Amino acid sequence: MSKIKFAVVGLGHIGKRHADMIIQNNDAELIALIETNTEINLQNYQVPVFDSLASFFKANLAANIICIATPNYLHCEQAIQCMQNGLDVIIEKPMGLSVNECNDVIETSQQLNKKVFCVMQNRYSPPSIWLKEIVSSNILGKIFHIQINCFWNRDKKYYKPNGWKGKLAQDGGTLFTQFSHFVDTLYWIFGDITHINAKFNNFNHQQSIEFEDSGFIHFDLVNGGSGSLNYSTSAFNKNIESSITILAENGSVKIGGQYMEKVLHCEIKDYQMPELAATNPPNDYGTYKGSAANHEYVINNAIQTLFGNENIKTPALEGFKVVEIIERIYELRVNELVS
Ligand SMILES: NC(=O)c1ccc[n+]([C@@H]2O[C@H](COP(=O)([O-])OP(=O)(O)OC[C@H]3O[C@@H](n4cnc5c(N)ncnc54)[C@H](O)[C@@H]3O)[C@@H](O)[C@H]2O)c1
Repeated sequence: MSKIKFAVVGLGHIGKRHADMIIQNNDAELIALIETNTEINLQNYQVPVFDSLASFFKANLAANIICIATPNYLHCEQAIQCMQNGLDVIIEKPMGLSVNECNDVIETSQQLNKKVFCVMQNRYSPPSIWLKEIVSSNILGKIFHIQINCFWNRDKKYYKPNGWKGKLAQDGGTLFTQFSHFVDTLYWIFGDITHINAKFNNFNHQQSIEFEDSGFIHFDLVNGGSGSLNYSTSAFNKNIESSITILAENGSVKIGGQYMEKVLHCEIKDYQMPELAATNPPNDYGTYKGSAANHEYVINNAIQTLFGNENIKTPALEGFKVVEIIERIYELRVNELVS
């Protein structure tokens, strides 16, 4: 293979970013786009545009891999269809909306020997890489206490009446759509959680979303220590922060900023903090901002893996685990909602 041939399905906010990153990569070729909304102008990409996956498959183009950037509830069924039609898949976050459907994706990938790449691009931010390193190498020692705070703004401009965002069955909830990156950070760096308690509220999105806009989650870490995840999309006017504070045997660390891009505090016994590279800015969608603009690394990891030079950085089992943790948290939502 001289170049990896890509298709992208779902050309909304993030799908276009996938397409742009593919075009900018010398080892990749964009060969098709699939988008049901024919009003979206995709002519600039100068590749065939299909209005359904079925018509794309019928055209029999020789794609190697497809980026799935459609609404959350479509990820798993489309991933399975694409693998059944011979493609490896990159699945936007969250991998799916239930453990059961993610299991089906994993089973299909195993049976058909297809690769599944999940998207958790915050992992590529220098503070995340550094934090993983000092936790894995035990520089921090025993972890006592972790606090994750994610306070963002999502308002009426974001939740469109006819859109999928805010609908329970299509979106799944605030942890799936806004904050799964930070559940991934928790799991990737500190491991699984247990003994979960939760409190949910819908403070000021009663007209626009069918689930909580805010949550207060307490848990123990399976590896020792305890923590909390406090999140909300009710921050006035704009995002305030996504931060993680760690108190541990040998020191304390806080990473903050809007999307955990800055080390705000580092005090560790006998340890000099290295200079970290700058983090990419957030994805900017005009009226709101998201997580780190690191999709170039996701696309590149897929290419290098297909060339046989790298391993999958966010494999299906890790995308699955984020969904599994959110599902356990949301099991507590059943009797809790909603003020
Ligand atoms: N990694 C990140 O930082 C990040 C950021 C934003 C969104 N996302 C994820 O990406 C996905 C898309 O989010 P978005 O904000 O771009 O949403 P969006 O609504 O802007 O885009 C989704 C697009 O999919 C199209 N679509 C719907 N059904 C389709 C189908 N059956 N076939 C083809 N196209 C179809 C829609 O017409 C729309 O253009 C979501 O799962 C979201 O969680 C990830």
